[in-house]
Amino acid sequence: MNAPGAERRRSLHGEWTSRLGFILALAGSAVGLGNIWRFPYVAGQNGGGAFVLVYLVCVFAIGLPIMMSEVLIGRRGRRNPVRTMALLGEEEAGTRAWGLVGLLGVFTGFLILSFYSVIGGWTVAYIVEAASGAFVNAGADDVARIFSGIVSSPAVAGVWHTLFMILTIGVVVLGVEQGLERAVRVLVPALVALMLVLLGYSMTTGSFLQGVVFLFEPRFDELTGDSVLAALGQAFFTLSVGMGAVMTYGAYLPDHESIPRASIAVVIADTSIALLAGLVIFPIVFAHGLDPASGPGLVFQSLPLAFGQMPGGVIVATLFFLLLTFAAWTSAISILEPAVAFFMETWELTRAKAAVIVGTLIWLLGFVTVLSFGPWSDFRFWRGTWFDNIDHISNNLFLPIGGLAIVVFAGWVMARNSTADELDPEAGRGYRLWRISARYLAPVAVTLTLLSGLELF
Ligand code: PHE
Repeated sequence: MNAPGAERRRSLHGEWTSRLGFILALAGSAVGLGNIWRFPYVAGQNGGGAFVLVYLVCVFAIGLPIMMSEVLIGRRGRRNPVRTMALLGEEEAGTRAWGLVGLLGVFTGFLILSFYSVIGGWTVAYIVEAASGAFVNAGADDVARIFSGIVSSPAVAGVWHTLFMILTIGVVVLGVEQGLERAVRVLVPALVALMLVLLGYSMTTGSFLQGVVFLFEPRFDELTGDSVLAALGQAFFTLSVGMGAVMTYGAYLPDHESIPRASIAVVIADTSIALLAGLVIFPIVFAHGLDPASGPGLVFQSLPLAFGQMPGGVIVATLFFLLLTFAAWTSAISILEPAVAFFMETWELTRAKAAVIVGTLIWLLGFVTVLSFGPWSDFRFWRGTWFDNIDHISNNLFLPIGGLAIVVFAGWVMARNSTADELDPEAGRGYRLWRISARYLAPVAVTLTLLSGLELF
């Protein structure tokens, strides 16, 4: 099935036990803080409606074909992203330089996890707050105080960040297949069920319609080059594409499983959960007179108001932040795994050693983000705080650049036979659609968005 003379490669680190296993792992990677924390606040900062529309177009027209490209490259190479890109680069184009794309991905993963773990730490802290009843009948001022009590203290936020990082390293040490499939199978449905409960509450706030209008009425005059780039960045971030996480999971995918079907299922699930989060949060924001553009604290300062008012709110809130922590955890694992696989294969380290070394470096870098929400919050340059900058560079620049390189590689550098072999041996209509977007639509759209976001034209 491979290029002439080549044998199908075997995974170095085990395989998913079933197709459902892969879909679950991929969904576990995609569904996380990106859907529930980042989507609402970035949509809020960019004026809602028109941003959401651009985001949806980016998800389906660009994110989906790139996700399929990443999985097929990963499964064909069956190595960490650096070696996979080098190997396929050599096989398809006679140059190992494509490994640099993998290297950018590993580096991007470092940056992303360094702040992701800090926000993951906030969600763990919120389990404790929720269980202690701190949100009961709380007003906006109380909730703001609880939030800043956590994020503005480097000691408090640092401890939770440390705990979150230990949890993430722990699973990666054990090996990603074990436990992950089973956890996600329960987690994602439970999270959706709880969000539906919250949606029921949002409908009673009296501001539901206002929330819906904000989220879906496109006011194109509010759209700037910067917000189009933000929509693209959010699409990449929420789908986990552009840095090799999906490629790494694809390396563990059995040969006969359908890549398009798994990708479509995950993209639809991920998008639905983000929209659901928006529908839950904005009515609460408007009902309490909060500012939709207030930034990274949006979810943490709006949802507790709802929990504080509803019957059984302590239990619902505790469960919600517990599930959100799990969702963040399964994503964090997928951000760490590419770098760990790279360290293992490059320096022949054990899984445990590689995970602890990489994890510790990321943990240390995370403290700059911790400080940027606390004592260093007034230290601003370029886009704002350290967090604002690292978030912008990794999600709005590096992920799209990485994704562009990946999709160009799959669409232009790889032989038609190679990609058809992975995606659809019969090369039907779905395959042609993928190839058109991989060759033209996605590369052109990403390039134009990057250029306009950088204000180069
Ligand atoms: N998709 C994850 C989320 O939405 C974050 C992520 C980004 C995971 C990049 C892997 C790679 O929370």
